[in-house]
Amino acid sequence: MASSSRFGAFLHPYARPTRPADEFVCIVRGEGARVWDRNGKEYLDGMASLWYANVGYGRREIADAVADQISQIAAFSCFDPFSVEPAESLAERIAALAPMPDARVFFTSSGSEAVDSAIKLARIAHHRAGRADRHLIVSRGRAYHGVTYGGLSAQGLPLNQEGFGPFVEGMINLPPDDIEATAQFMAERGDEVAAIIAEPVQGAGGVYPPPPGYLAGLRRLADQHGAYLVFDEVISGFGRLGRWWGAQHYDVTPDLITFAKAVTSGYIPLGGVLVGSDVRAALEADDTWMLRHGHTYSGHAAACAAGLANLDIIDREGLLDRATVIGARLFGGLQTLVDDGLLGALRHAGAVGATVMAEGRDAFAVRDALLDAGVITRAVNPQTLTWCPPLVISDAEIDRIVDAVASATRTPLSDR
Ligand SMILES: Cc1ncc(COP(=O)(O)O)c(C=O)c1O
Repeated sequence: MASSSRFGAFLHPYARPTRPADEFVCIVRGEGARVWDRNGKEYLDGMASLWYANVGYGRREIADAVADQISQIAAFSCFDPFSVEPAESLAERIAALAPMPDARVFFTSSGSEAVDSAIKLARIAHHRAGRADRHLIVSRGRAYHGVTYGGLSAQGLPLNQEGFGPFVEGMINLPPDDIEATAQFMAERGDEVAAIIAEPVQGAGGVYPPPPGYLAGLRRLADQHGAYLVFDEVISGFGRLGRWWGAQHYDVTPDLITFAKAVTSGYIPLGGVLVGSDVRAALEADDTWMLRHGHTYSGHAAACAAGLANLDIIDREGLLDRATVIGARLFGGLQTLVDDGLLGALRHAGAVGATVMAEGRDAFAVRDALLDAGVITRAVNPQTLTWCPPLVISDAEIDRIVDAVASATRTPLSDR
């Protein structure tokens, strides 16, 4: 039966279930860094949709690659004994870009699945190496690691967890930037820890770059105590910080890296885990052992074809270098608004950042004012708007975003 309620049949993710269907902005088309809604209104996208559309919208080249693949074979199981060529090629390509030598690639369809896979791979690798007592996963406050139970249990944003318990056992959430607190925990229980997981730049929690030396400190602690280090690069992977990986930007090499989003720029859902040599060695030690983990779409052929075409574009158009230029212009512009008192504060790294509202101003109201003005941002909490534009945004478009933020925050509070 068709839904007759004003809410419509689509139960939206991360939304009030009671928000009327006609209040959502329905996007129908995109080109470069711009998208259009079903009423024909144009928007400049300051968020690459949801931190993923690095090559921008309307790329015929990716559409053609996907169409070609679907007309040959859209997907086929990659469970033993099968394989598909796009998964093999994309794994080779990503492994060659990896910051760690001799990595292999496990595919998923989302970032959450990638995080859960990394947690499982870390635990099973210790188990295979005779260290079954190592099962704890150490994470950070403010961390966002997705919504399936592994990543949800590890994340450090209590509002997202409220009411969803009980959670996965063995998750230890520590203060986000406090290497001393982590060192103390590792001194007490380091021999039970399977892995430390961290976003190189915390994203959905409000864009917090790491304090100097913090990530290197995590690497040192992991080494000292025999734990793996996992970087959750679902946002920072594939160019956001001006390098392929946040690991390279901060010059710290983890054992496992989760990725998703910009691996295809969202043209088809895809995620995965880069598996470094220590974890590999544990998984490959016994020729008779079988990895009993995998999703129906692990290595989905059409998704991997989208990934290959997407990486070609990032390479050919020099989008890694462009990320650095975009970040300097956008956050340089937004900093002037902080200096003028229109904004309270700014945090950023590469081409991702967050603006904190001035006292008394609500980020959701500013987001709505910006939407009216044709600029898309994301309010992650009542104080914070996040910025993560497609890496094809032009200088003039960046300046338009800064001007729109200035106008939206200059309006007297009483006029809202
Ligand atoms: C760092 C990080 N990890 C995991 C996820 C979850 O990814 P997905 O929403 O594709 O499941 C996200 C999503 O924003 C993320 O930012």
